[in-house]
Amino acid sequence: MASSAQFCFFLFIFVSAAAVVSATDHIVGANKGWNPGVNYTLWANNQTFYVDDLISFRYQKNMYNVFEVNQTGYDNCTTEGAVGNWTSGKDFITLNEAKRYYFIGGNGQCFNGMKVSVLVHALPPPPSSSAALANSSSSAQRVHEVGRLMGLSANVVAAVFGALMWFGSNLI
Ligand SMILES: *[C@@H]1O[C@H](CO)[C@@H](O)[C@H](O)[C@H]1NC(C)=O
Ligand SMILES: *[C@@H]1O[C@H](CO)[C@@H](O)[C@H](O)[C@H]1NC(C)=O
Ligand SMILES: *[C@@H]1O[C@H](CO)[C@@H](O)[C@H](O)[C@H]1NC(C)=O
Ligand SMILES: *[C@@H]1O[C@H](CO)[C@@H](O)[C@H](O)[C@H]1NC(C)=O
Ligand SMILES: *[C@@H]1O[C@H](CO)[C@@H](O)[C@H](O)[C@H]1NC(C)=O
Ligand SMILES: *[C@@H]1O[C@H](CO)[C@@H](O)[C@H](O)[C@H]1NC(C)=O
Repeated sequence: MASSAQFCFFLFIFVSAAAVVSATDHIVGANKGWNPGVNYTLWANNQTFYVDDLISFRYQKNMYNVFEVNQTGYDNCTTEGAVGNWTSGKDFITLNEAKRYYFIGGNGQCFNGMKVSVLVHALPPPPSSSAALANSSSSAQRVHEVGRLMGLSANVVAAVFGALMWFGSNLI
């Protein structure tokens, strides 16, 4: 009895942690990568970005690079006052705020189309695998959101949420 309940408890923690923590890696340009002559507006319009997703730029190192700029930098293709820059050729950037991000290529490549802006949304979508999971994970997301405001890590939040479910199911 206790051990099967414990099993359910750990399974629940695992499932809710997986549902809460899952993040997508958005590969800029998909198989075209980060190169001149690609319409990245079309690429960005075809994806939905959520907080804690990754955006990754794949390109030939030493040939191109990536700058994070503000809207002025994006509109005018200027890297002055850039927020960040990356040069590895395989750059993973965490989108950790719900806001619009702007990335451009340096050395004038922005004028050749190497510019992308993405709007990052606050909450991940509820998983659609089953109605029950959707319900429990959307509550998990609410707990996660509260936890994030309190500065807790996703795993701590998942454990607390799992413990609440554990006590809840014992009371019933
Ligand atoms: C990219 O495609 C969008 C939508 O069709 C279009 O509005 C935009 O002008 C294109 N951008 C470039 C640089 O061609
Ligand atoms: C949009 O996404 C779908 C599915 O991932 C893909 O098949 C399609 O080619 C994409 N279109 C563009 C313009 O990237
Ligand atoms: C682009 O730069 C020009 C001056 O070079 C400036 O007047 C304009 O406001 C800038 N664009 C944006 C969107 O700020
Ligand atoms: C973008 O940054 C530049 C340089 O720091 C600044 O002059 C400009 O006002 C900023 N634009 C916006 C829209 O914040
Ligand atoms: C790139 O970012 C680093 C800090 O991470 C900064 O020291 C450097 O000046 C930046 N380079 C350019 C060209 O903006
Ligand atoms: C999920 O929640 C909705 C209302 O929020 C409820 O109508 C539905 O029955 C719930 N589904 C399950 C499987 O609990």
